[in-house]
Amino acid sequence: YLRERERHDWSHVHLASCYGGLYGRPFIESFEETPMLVAVLTYMGYGILTIFGYLRDFLRHWQIEKCSIAREKENQKDFVPLYQDFENFYTRNLYMRIRDNWNRPICSVPGAKMDLMERTSRDYNWTFEYTDRVVQDVINLGSYNYLGFAENTGPCADSACEVTMKYGVGVTSTRQEIGNLDRHEEMEKLVAKFLGVESAMAFGMGFATNSMNIPALAGKGCLILSDELNHASLVLGARLSGSTIRVFKHNNMQSLEKLLREAIVHGQPRTHRPWKKILIVVEGIYSMEGSIVRLPEVIALKKRYRAYLYLDEAHSIGALGPKGRGVVDYFGLDPCDVDVMMGTFTKSFGAAGGYIAGKRELIEYLRSHSHSAVYATSMSPPVVEQIITSMKCIMGEDGTTIGCKRVRQLADNTVYFRKRLREMGFITYGNNDSPVVPMMLYMPAKIGAFGREMLKRNIGVVVVGFPATPIIESRARFCISAAHTKDIIFREQGC
Ligand SMILES: Cc1ncc(COP(=O)(O)O)c(C=O)c1O
Repeated sequence: YLRERERHDWSHVHLASCYGGLYGRPFIESFEETPMLVAVLTYMGYGILTIFGYLRDFLRHWQIEKCSIAREKENQKDFVPLYQDFENFYTRNLYMRIRDNWNRPICSVPGAKMDLMERTSRDYNWTFEYTDRVVQDVINLGSYNYLGFAENTGPCADSACEVTMKYGVGVTSTRQEIGNLDRHEEMEKLVAKFLGVESAMAFGMGFATNSMNIPALAGKGCLILSDELNHASLVLGARLSGSTIRVFKHNNMQSLEKLLREAIVHGQPRTHRPWKKILIVVEGIYSMEGSIVRLPEVIALKKRYRAYLYLDEAHSIGALGPKGRGVVDYFGLDPCDVDVMMGTFTKSFGAAGGYIAGKRELIEYLRSHSHSAVYATSMSPPVVEQIITSMKCIMGEDGTTIGCKRVRQLADNTVYFRKRLREMGFITYGNNDSPVVPMMLYMPAKIGAFGREMLKRNIGVVVVGFPATPIIESRARFCISAAHTKDIIFREQGC
């Protein structure tokens, strides 16, 4: 079957190329449909696991098999069950079998290679014990270290150390009170300059940047149009805002336009008053699909229907575009066309936290209205310094071309890695330029087997299955880094 794939039967692949003159470059994404035989075998795999799950639950009920999962207290056994649902059944009977593939503790910097702490389980993955052995130099194909700035040597680490000596680690106050450091102000100016917008504000956590700022921007009487594959932090933010949420098909512009048109024509339910605000929420790179947002089309639609655009660049900032400025740079667009630019420092910058950037009025408004701006302790100084130093490096403001080379290296590695996987006959998802590379595994047994077999070969990978993906679309998700050399990726493995 794999050999057959080598012939690149593109007839099964959905290609989207230059579209209505909006794109200045070819836009190629492939999402091959699950082949029928594979789908049938995958469902059979889940069927067999489910039958065994029920059998084992029967044995556990009669205490023939031991079970350590959360269960109702004996004195509350007449209550409506607190823990009984399908996901609990799934966790107990399917996830537990392959749980060793996740949460593995690492004991080094998560660079191109990393060290793992070896652990074993004597009770079929219910609990783990450490063997005190360290598995060294495991190739890291899982961290979001796109530009290789997750490192413990070099200018970023040195400046973070220096700043720690001067400012310490904790700030112990909020930005509004005594936690507003000169380093925070410098970082925010730099972020605005990096993105080419008027102003920016940073927050201590990327997840909270979304979940706490969307409620400050939208509320009752507003409509949020959200891509179906948006990150949990965006979904939570939209729900907390109290706005009406409508979901459009992933990256599907017909679906988005239909919702926009309906929103304009019908207005709010019952009263038919116009919506107070319509906010389109999308991501730059989708981290499970490896797809890139069709930004030129989204911007055209938002202008046509006078909606606002919230763009989450968690995975694309630093990782896309000739200058590493994200998806706006990738498509050669004007950053001012995006109303709210959001991103995180956790990935390409090897730090922590998130930002919101855009017009000065937007940022001033958020400074006093966002819960994460007002009530959360401000960012730790070494983290701020890591962001400043890595961002200056990408911008070439450190007087070197290191940052520029890393951006180019990441783009080259991505194209090379995707091409080699295709040549080897694997089915990959997403955009050709996306450093997030999902490789389809489909069958449940392969999720655990692939993760374990790769680790035997000293390669650390992330495997993903239901509920993070549709049930028949389990996959391995590789994240390419500028720190990976071609030798690391392929030759060392003799592939
Ligand atoms: C699209 C997106 N937004 C927000 C976040 C949250 O960012 P953080 O991990 O920095 O809290 C993530 C995390 O992976 C993400 O993928």
